Amino acid sequence: MSKTEPSSEREGQGSDFYEDVKRQHLAPLWRQRRRPTHGRAVPHLWKWPMLRAEMMRAADVVSTEDIERRVLGLMNPGLEKEGIFATTPNLVGAVQLILPGEVAVAHHHTPAALRVILESERAYTCTDGERCWMEPGDVILTPAWTYHDHGNEGDKPALWLDGLDAPLIQAMDTVFFERYPGQTQQPQQELHEASVRRFRVAGMRPAGYSWDKTYSPLTKYPWRDMVQALNEMPAPEASEFDDLRLEYFNPHTGGPVMPTIACYAQRLRGGVHTSRHRHSSVGIFYVFRGSGHTVVEDERLEWSAGDIFVIPGWHWHEHVNAASREDAILISYTDEPLLKSLGIHQEEADGSS
Ligand SMILES: [Fe+2]
Ligand SMILES: [Fe+2]
Repeated sequence: MSKTEPSSEREGQGSDFYEDVKRQHLAPLWRQRRRPTHGRAVPHLWKWPMLRAEMMRAADVVSTEDIERRVLGLMNPGLEKEGIFATTPNLVGAVQLILPGEVAVAHHHTPAALRVILESERAYTCTDGERCWMEPGDVILTPAWTYHDHGNEGDKPALWLDGLDAPLIQAMDTVFFERYPGQTQQPQQELHEASVRRFRVAGMRPAGYSWDKTYSPLTKYPWRDMVQALNEMPAPEASEFDDLRLEYFNPHTGGPVMPTIACYAQRLRGGVHTSRHRHSSVGIFYVFRGSGHTVVEDERLEWSAGDIFVIPGWHWHEHVNAASREDAILISYTDEPLLKSLGIHQEEADGSS
């Protein structure tokens, strides 16, 4: 055997060796099958009419009195084959429903979550005592280990997209979970949406304000503010990859809303066709308004309002909105801050186009 082949084995040696090391819980890494360490997740799109219909069927099957949460997880077909419950390796998306009068009981857990509201009239999320009313297009945070419960005081179903870093926290074997002691709902502050009032005017905050948590002190990012900011965004600030795109940010640090998850809203103007790029962070997108398509590698995802789709990490992608169409608005979340904090975020523009 050649000495230039480091993985080759010496002839006639080691027949007992492999059995001995296995018995002692040791693994010869040179025999491990080499496999790609990215690319297991695949692009996928879930159409809103299908999602909504299945959620309403779920309401016939289970009540929030009997289960912790009425949620259907968005299973990535590539990961599902490996028995992994996730939309991407680090993040999961799921659709949750509560009916009028229902309550999703107060609990907290180490996975962090955000909520993108799909349908709601007088439903709310309470995060660590702060009640935030939910309207379609709002983003509401329930960061790691914050107590949260949801209630619906309206007369229509309330649905939202949950975005969690649960697959990451599970991989770290650090999932902790507790119900709020002794009560289905946590005590709520009298003043609703206090954090929204605190930061209502961008660039101002209460004098002497301090905050020592790892996540944003702003619990809710209202859709009206997001739409207004996108409409007023100066055109020269458009990105060739994302058109007009804004980040929901932590007003205390200027950083992402939570340590592991960043959230964005983008406006794809009629006639825009973005340049192709790829990055190691993933994107889970909710189509808030409009329609168009996104090409991910050789797959074309045709989306319209209400649909949810995933762009896995390190997949070439470009967004297209036809000239004749109204502007589209996409709300998305990503594990980009996690990868950046580890110094491993990769990004590449397509130089061939
Ligand atoms: Fe939860
Ligand atoms: Fe991108």
